[in-house]
Amino acid sequence: PFEQSLRPQLLKQYIGQDKIKHNLEIFIEAAKMRSESLDHCLLYGPPGLGKTTLASVIANEMDVQIRMTSGPAIERPGDLAAIVSSLEPGDVLFIDEIHRLNRSIEEVLYPAMEDFCLDIVVGKGPAARSVRLDLPPFTLIGATTRAGALSAPLRDRFGVLLRLDYYDEEALTSIVMRSAELFNASIDFESAGEIARRSRGTPRIANRLLKRVRDYAQVRGNGHISLILAREALELLQVDPRGLDHIDHKLLIGMIERFRGGPVGLDTIAASIGEESTTIEDVYEPYLLQIGFIQRSPRGRIVTPLAYEHLGMPLPIERND
Ligand code: ADE
Repeated sequence: PFEQSLRPQLLKQYIGQDKIKHNLEIFIEAAKMRSESLDHCLLYGPPGLGKTTLASVIANEMDVQIRMTSGPAIERPGDLAAIVSSLEPGDVLFIDEIHRLNRSIEEVLYPAMEDFCLDIVVGKGPAARSVRLDLPPFTLIGATTRAGALSAPLRDRFGVLLRLDYYDEEALTSIVMRSAELFNASIDFESAGEIARRSRGTPRIANRLLKRVRDYAQVRGNGHISLILAREALELLQVDPRGLDHIDHKLLIGMIERFRGGPVGLDTIAASIGEESTTIEDVYEPYLLQIGFIQRSPRGRIVTPLAYEHLGMPLPIERND
């Protein structure tokens, strides 16, 4: 209920991602003018940027219901058939982590997306035959952290491709101010900015930090979130001034101390610090790349001088071996 109540319901309440909003406004209005369902949309980008929220905003703006599921949750073609055949005309079907959809289910999805029908096999052995089932027109909204992991035929069937970007400090500050107001937390603009700067461009992180800072201000202060209390709380949470947490530190320091700052392969780094490669690739690396703390090279990842400076570590001495 808390998380839900923070979520904007309408495009005009959704902060940031301006290009996406401007495009969507037009596509939504056009579909409504023609009394059609909205074309299928693929939302992609790092976790926590509001893909699920945006999907529910789209459904709300289209005045339709949304059904939510995820790639790994759809195990058999019948699971998908059960969901799509229960949709009302125009409804949104949201599939999170769509890159984890089984190939056998993708096959069922293609005719559903393209022609709004299902080809299902009934019976077994020589009596087996294929039956075509008509579906109501619907909008598939797929979400993924990695558009590149989608098969080309699936990607090609989306008419609208929307890439979510990290939020800037201004947008995140507005999100923190808005969330604080929604749960009656007293905060000033400077403190909201401090939380925003330490949130890795990510509203989900900003909202989580806001809750923890609010706890701290309640116990250690008088409830008001001041800049001093915000900084103390964030320090205690081990979130540094650029928003890096102890895993980012472990990653960067591990690369520096064990691999002389790289180049080092992703799997090698992952094994050496005991994290999953995919978690590093999808969650940690994108932000470190974005702020220029690591770079990719054909031979692996490299820690940049900017990161050494941030960590207060000396640059390695050039060696030619
Ligand atoms: N809460 C989380 N993300 C948000 C966004 N983009 N706009 C408004 N509130 C949010």
